[in-house]
Amino acid sequence: MAESMQGLHRSHRCTEVSGANIGETVTVMGWVQKRRNLGSLIFVDLRDRSGILQLVFDEESIGTEGFEKAGSLRSEYVIAVEGTVQKRAAAVNENLKTGDIEVIATSLRILSEAQTPPFQIEENSKTSEDIRLKYRYLDLRRPDIQSKLMLRSKLLTKMREFMANEGFLEIETPILCRSTPEGARDYLVPSRIHNGNFYALPQSPQLYKQLLMASGYDRYFQIARCFRDEDLRADRQPEFTQADMELSFVDMEDVIDVNERLLKYVFKECIGLDVQIPFQRMPWQEAMDRFGSDKPDTRFGMELHDVSEVVKGCGFGVFTGALADGGSVRGINVEGQAAMPRKKIDKLVEHAKGCGAKGLAYLCINEDGTYKSSFSKFMTVEELDNLVKAMEGKPGDLLLFAADKNKIVWNVLNALRLLLGEELGLIDHSKFNFLWVTEFPLLEWSDEEDRFMAMHHPFTMPMEEDWKNIDSDPGSVRAKAYDIVLNGTELGGGSVRIHQDDIQEKMFQVLGISNEVAHEKFGYLLDAFSYGVPPHAGLAFGVDRMVMHMTGTENIRDVIAFPKVKDASDLMTKAPGTVDPAQLEELGIAIVAPQEEEVEE
Ligand code: AMO
Ligand code: AMP
Repeated sequence: MAESMQGLHRSHRCTEVSGANIGETVTVMGWVQKRRNLGSLIFVDLRDRSGILQLVFDEESIGTEGFEKAGSLRSEYVIAVEGTVQKRAAAVNENLKTGDIEVIATSLRILSEAQTPPFQIEENSKTSEDIRLKYRYLDLRRPDIQSKLMLRSKLLTKMREFMANEGFLEIETPILCRSTPEGARDYLVPSRIHNGNFYALPQSPQLYKQLLMASGYDRYFQIARCFRDEDLRADRQPEFTQADMELSFVDMEDVIDVNERLLKYVFKECIGLDVQIPFQRMPWQEAMDRFGSDKPDTRFGMELHDVSEVVKGCGFGVFTGALADGGSVRGINVEGQAAMPRKKIDKLVEHAKGCGAKGLAYLCINEDGTYKSSFSKFMTVEELDNLVKAMEGKPGDLLLFAADKNKIVWNVLNALRLLLGEELGLIDHSKFNFLWVTEFPLLEWSDEEDRFMAMHHPFTMPMEEDWKNIDSDPGSVRAKAYDIVLNGTELGGGSVRIHQDDIQEKMFQVLGISNEVAHEKFGYLLDAFSYGVPPHAGLAFGVDRMVMHMTGTENIRDVIAFPKVKDASDLMTKAPGTVDPAQLEELGIAIVAPQEEEVEE
């Protein structure tokens, strides 16, 4: 029979009890991690979110009835124990924070019994993630998940603290919105009162925070839940959390300054890391040319070389063909890997193809200076020598080349560089390399849509010095947009916004958005700005990603209490699920697509 609290008060969490309490009476509560019977003594490891404390039951201290009760304890029972702290009788357990003490129980209450859990509650569980997510409430008891979520809580607290001190106001914005133009697919919510109409869940509070600037709140901040119906990857969830901000009467430098100090503060407070500011900065073009990525991992080298000029006019059709198509030929030098087995090189070729390459050309520089290459028969020795020189190749090096449209070449070489960097152990995992990537292109050509699209969003301010080229060469105009990158992941991003209506109108025109459509979609923003709006700029961090870095996990689900899996479902609640036909009728919705069977495990 489960007992209740009835006047009992917890005095300490498990690991708050220490040598300083020896001789004192304490009341602790938690879950039974394990029980060991040693004849006249019963040992119980008690667990709460702080850690483990050893309890000792002997008949003399707790009486016959209490001793029998202790003997009935099983894993995951929830108990309350009053007892006296003493120095450990047996050897000190160095692995436990409380390893030098124990509590001699004088009373025991069983607050809840427990069935045997489907997996052991332990650190570094070997149980498959799907099982753990199905029983997430048990998985969440595991100390490694608990410590991550506790750190997450601390991060949110510290961010709020910093932002409040800097004069930011925390203001909530709606979850039921009109769609915002962030570029991902919206999650829609049907309206009961307005049948046939839909709310969109916010992809970010972008327009609201800009409106708040027009309304004079001047420094806004929010821990904001965002929703994006996009394909999930290791560091993406359909709903995720941003630390979102917007500032008035500022330019890019002001935003960068406050955010560098914010990052310095929270990394120090949360994980004791000393972050040097200001951070390194790199224009987008340089990031692409050197790393093939707008979020370069700068913890190691193996940078890209553009060899288009060198191979121009050579006999290798793959290279010259790519150049003729307006593309480029670029390579990476995998130093010291000339002897890489053919099988492994073939794997790299497959990996490149998976990233969109038509192929991957390679050249091994043997120790004797001769070459072994997939394309040497198409080139003269002189051409090969020049290529090797351009790649800074030495005997023992392996050179890999991709020839295609720039976008594909960058994508492929970036992927190979990251893969090899990891496999060859070139990455120093103790490093935290913060980097601002700036001067993004304002526009990006979309073959699919046959028009320019905003790279960030349509309210991003162009760089003044480029704006004059918006008609003659729209693709060359850079934006006042900036991303904060940490060790090759995009931690956050933002921009200075357009607050002048002539620039905004021109932007819509370039994007092929008619005046009517612009007003229909976000007329309220344009109207608001017509009543007086300050220059403003902002940024949003991905909070989940920040916690991933702080806790050193590669799995975003480890830092979210109730995450979703790859197909955007929740294995515990089985969301999304079907609904009652009456609910659909109220919403005026009929399902046309055949409903998928609920998947049985
Ligand atoms: P952006 O779209 O770059 O900018 O998003 C900001 C940051 O949010 C994180 N993030 C995600 N994290 C987890 N799962 C996802 N699916 C996901 N998508 C994005 C990233 C990213 O850097 N309104 C603008 C910000 C601004 O301009 O002020 C915005 O949302 O870490
Ligand atoms: P092929 O003449 O098609 O057999 O190609 C010769 C070499 O060039 C092979 O090693 C191919 O993998 C490589 N290759 C083919 N297409 C490309 C490309 N777009 N970029 C780089 N290498 C390529």
